[in-house]
Amino acid sequence: MAYSAPLFQMFVALLALAAPALGSRSKCTARDSCVTQSCPNPIAQQYPNLVSGTLNGTTLIVPIPLEQARALIPQEYTILENAYRGLLASFPAGMYPLMVTVAVDHDLQLPAYNVTVGDFSRSALEFPFLDILGNGYSNFRWAATMMVTSTAQAAITGSEGLGLTIYPSAFEPACDPYAPQPDGSLLMHSESVTPGGADAKFMTVQTQASPGIVPYPLTFIRNVTNQPTFANTSACDNYIRLYNTSNSAGPHEPQPVSGTVLANLDPFTTNQTWAGVYGWNYATSFIEPPVPGKCADLANFIDS
Ligand SMILES: *[C@@H]1O[C@H](CO)[C@@H](O)[C@H](O)[C@H]1NC(C)=O
Ligand SMILES: *[C@@H]1O[C@H](CO)[C@@H](O)[C@H](O)[C@H]1NC(C)=O
Ligand SMILES: *[C@@H]1O[C@H](CO)[C@@H](O)[C@H](O)[C@H]1NC(C)=O
Ligand SMILES: *[C@@H]1O[C@H](CO)[C@@H](O)[C@H](O)[C@H]1NC(C)=O
Ligand SMILES: *[C@@H]1O[C@H](CO)[C@@H](O)[C@H](O)[C@H]1NC(C)=O
Ligand SMILES: *[C@@H]1O[C@H](CO)[C@@H](O)[C@H](O)[C@H]1NC(C)=O
Repeated sequence: MAYSAPLFQMFVALLALAAPALGSRSKCTARDSCVTQSCPNPIAQQYPNLVSGTLNGTTLIVPIPLEQARALIPQEYTILENAYRGLLASFPAGMYPLMVTVAVDHDLQLPAYNVTVGDFSRSALEFPFLDILGNGYSNFRWAATMMVTSTAQAAITGSEGLGLTIYPSAFEPACDPYAPQPDGSLLMHSESVTPGGADAKFMTVQTQASPGIVPYPLTFIRNVTNQPTFANTSACDNYIRLYNTSNSAGPHEPQPVSGTVLANLDPFTTNQTWAGVYGWNYATSFIEPPVPGKCADLANFIDS
């Protein structure tokens, strides 16, 4: 899950509970009131011992001042500025690439255990390029907070077990990563189901096609989305998005977008507005170990 994070833990929870989701698959297992337009998982049988699925959504990169990033990210994690400058020479000086993520997890399977899990949505702010081992070169992504579909109990419990802060949330649209608007843009809104008044947790992402301006090539997106993630460094999630399946090809080719993000979500504590930011609407297949790993074991992670 969780873009980590917490899928594996979710499976541990599922297995332990002899999950009600076991064995039963339908088009929209978690939320039977709506049907997703996301495509089936084409790789489950190819990776029977891993959790796999289709992850469909949006990643936007928000340049924030390095000083601000430094203040938000726990002090013990070093920011590997050279790593992202090496990948993105034109990235503005003095800035850090915050990731805004919203996606639908669809058709999750773990064939070796005959397990499937219902779809759910999630949105998050994530911090890539962090050195948590002190070796100066292994890149990890801090993803400690997530909004998750409020009815996806296994995903929520599993994520919390990994140390994430989860806000059970309502997503609009409920089963797809975005909905077309009359002006041609695409919109996704998530909101915590716990009333918070003016301090309510929420995220609104609006995007439009940006074929001409693509500041972050897909190779950069692939890099940041495939860094092992953690909430608590006692465990890391080696969640790998595969950009080479049918879910990223032909009519499903990733689309460069520009967009606006409105959010109040940790580690920020007040409403944020980021306009004129860039990224991609895209789907990939993904694979993920069913149990979390030791972060140090992923230290020599090779580019995929
Ligand atoms: C997997 O679950 C399905 C549906 O419950 C069942 O029909 C099938 O026999 C199970 N397969 C294995 C290998 O347990
Ligand atoms: C991703 O979601 C969009 C919007 O619902 C849908 O049109 C598209 O088919 C989905 N792509 C895949 C590969 O699932
Ligand atoms: C934050 O934004 C939300 C959504 O626009 C709004 O309802 C809320 O009042 C804002 N909070 C503050 C403190 O301005
Ligand atoms: C991380 O997890 C360990 C083991 O579960 C726990 O002892 C520790 O308090 C956690 N640290 C944080 C910052 O949550
Ligand atoms: C991302 O790029 C960094 C810097 O080049 C590299 O060390 C790392 O292995 C890459 N990670 C992935 C997952 O591709
Ligand atoms: C897709 O990429 C993964 C990771 O690089 C690789 O292991 C796999 O063989 C590739 N699959 C296909 C169908 O090319």
